Amino acid sequence: MTPSVARSVTVTSEGVRSPAILKALCCPVCRDALTAMTPGSDAALPAGATPSEANTAQATALRCGSGHTFDVARQGYVNLRSGRKPRGTADTADMVAARAEFLAAGHYEPIADAVARQVADGWRDPATLPAERSDAVAMNSGRPERTGTSGAAGVQDEVETRSSDSAGVQGDVVLDVGAGTGYYLGHTLDKLAGRRDETDAGVIADASGRAGSHGVAMDVSAYALRRAAKAHPRIAAIGADVWDALPLRDGSVSAILDVFAPRNAAEFHRVLRPGGTLVVVTPSPGHLAELVDRFGMLSVDERKDERIEETLAESFILETRAELTHRMSLAAHDIGRLIRMGPSAHHIDTASLEETLDMIDAPLGVTAAVTVARYSARF
Ligand SMILES: C[S@@+](CC[C@H](N)C(=O)[O-])C[C@H]1O[C@@H](n2cnc3c(N)ncnc32)[C@H](O)[C@@H]1O
Ligand SMILES: [Zn+2]
Repeated sequence: MTPSVARSVTVTSEGVRSPAILKALCCPVCRDALTAMTPGSDAALPAGATPSEANTAQATALRCGSGHTFDVARQGYVNLRSGRKPRGTADTADMVAARAEFLAAGHYEPIADAVARQVADGWRDPATLPAERSDAVAMNSGRPERTGTSGAAGVQDEVETRSSDSAGVQGDVVLDVGAGTGYYLGHTLDKLAGRRDETDAGVIADASGRAGSHGVAMDVSAYALRRAAKAHPRIAAIGADVWDALPLRDGSVSAILDVFAPRNAAEFHRVLRPGGTLVVVTPSPGHLAELVDRFGMLSVDERKDERIEETLAESFILETRAELTHRMSLAAHDIGRLIRMGPSAHHIDTASLEETLDMIDAPLGVTAAVTVARYSARF
């Protein structure tokens, strides 16, 4: 079930114009900082704008110093792509609708809880890191560029200037890659905020009184991005391909979620700040076992976890890995959504799926079995 805490208070959705988000993003073409353009004028809302300034204006576009401009879609997301054709397979409108309905029924809530817990347990405050690491930490504040990654060269001066006038606009940024509807990200942001108070600016504060964490939901599917933009008041939905240089500055995010989605180890390492955490969820071999044969679904590769660790090992250290298994009671319509939302949707014939579903007249017990792994970055 989508968590309800955020919706119990009236909050102005911040989306892409949130100062915390603007500080993290960069132009996908020249890697320069981005500002939010307000409606009816050419006036830019700088990255260091106060929350109240940010909240009184709608952003119609994001623009960099060189004039590269990215329109904010009516539905609240913005494509920050360099123009290259995406190399991933974007989820279709039907897949995204099925996913939204399935997740809203709460069947994967134990997975969302586990993800949020791993983020909360996994990230460390930069202030608690050993000196040589904390020297290197400064979310957007002058950390030397790392070498050997596709990066944001040439943006450092501007970042330093901006960071000095953005005091008070704190908050961690959580990146969800292949975010889909933003379900896991919204859940995580809610869990990270202990107590919620509305400040004058309409920004929710967490238990320590800081503005709560913000989320970047990244995906190549416009259908997914439309949903993600509305999933939580502190989510910015960004169109980007995980196989490109991500439109994020070096060390700008505190946590990365990757739930049933592709992984780009080098880019994840570049954008994660020291002390940050990467949480990866993958299906285990027993996942949906009761449905695999019956519906001709794709089965899980037995060596998947091993291969994931191999690709991440160079840049990340495995901190914990847990097998999470829970039993779901699924009616025919839930099973239909589950099949239509995943990769099997591309292979299964709709007519025979409907026929098989028609034969199910009582809920089926189905196993959800996933691996939840948490990594820290090697520095
Ligand atoms: C299996 S879905 C998982 C969605 C979400 N994490 C969840 O579990 O609800 C995979 C998602 O990754 C997105 N995707 C596929 N290739 C991608 C790429 N190259 N870059 C970014 N997103 C991609 C798809 O559009 C889809 O939304
Ligand atoms: Zn640019």
